[in-house]
Amino acid sequence: MGGYGDVQMIDENGLRVDGRGPGDLREITIETGVVPVADGSCRMTWGTNEAIVAVYGPMEAHPRKIQRQDRAVLDVAYNMAPFSTTDRMRPGFNRRSREISKVTKDALESVVLLELYPRSKIRISIEIVSAEAGTRCVGLTAASVALADAGIPMTDMVVSVASGKINDIVVCDLNKEEDNYGEADLPMGILPNSGELVFLQMDGDLSQEEFKQAWDYNMDAAQAVHEMMVEALKGGGSQ
Ligand code: CDP
Repeated sequence: MGGYGDVQMIDENGLRVDGRGPGDLREITIETGVVPVADGSCRMTWGTNEAIVAVYGPMEAHPRKIQRQDRAVLDVAYNMAPFSTTDRMRPGFNRRSREISKVTKDALESVVLLELYPRSKIRISIEIVSAEAGTRCVGLTAASVALADAGIPMTDMVVSVASGKINDIVVCDLNKEEDNYGEADLPMGILPNSGELVFLQMDGDLSQEEFKQAWDYNMDAAQAVHEMMVEALKGGGSQ
């Protein structure tokens, strides 16, 4: 979030650099069962983002010190592959990937019926193979699909979208240029059936009105993406 208000990213017709209108999502595709050895998996493309998520478990939690007597624990690892971006990425865990793993785990713990699996662990590996802004949203959304694909009971799936502000205009689903040069970014994790939130981060400044518009874009987008998730889980794939 650079806040370079002078970099022109909306043309005279109100279209964005990738041709979208302010309320449009990037193209999304969702496939399940893409990692044959996993208990559940999902490949999601969102613009030129691509995430592959594999779910293993429930299994006995090791080491024992991480066990909870009354519930399962989620072991979430988000990783951006070194080749996923044109920027130079140092391989392995860093502060950013730890932070994203933690907020993803917290969001998913709100929906997974953990108490059904005492002393167990469910491992969720999120690998970003192509990154174009909003990868935390793609990873979290794809993780929900992978958990459902693994047959893990949940109260709802989490859908995550980041709207924000560029050139003083609020837009849905920021792409890379918009994320880099925009003025604000509001990623949210939404439960589409209840409209509840399980994740929210905000970078930059939004007025109350702008915040409401970004919120509404995220809420509407969550419904649209949720339909695609359900379609993909029914076996048709989704695009
Ligand atoms: O991906 P997300 O928007 O959730 O997180 P971010 O930290 O705001 O990063 C925005 C984008 O910057 C990523 O999606 C990548 O395209 C890029 N990025 C990168 O190329 N190298 C990094 N070490 C971190 C981010």
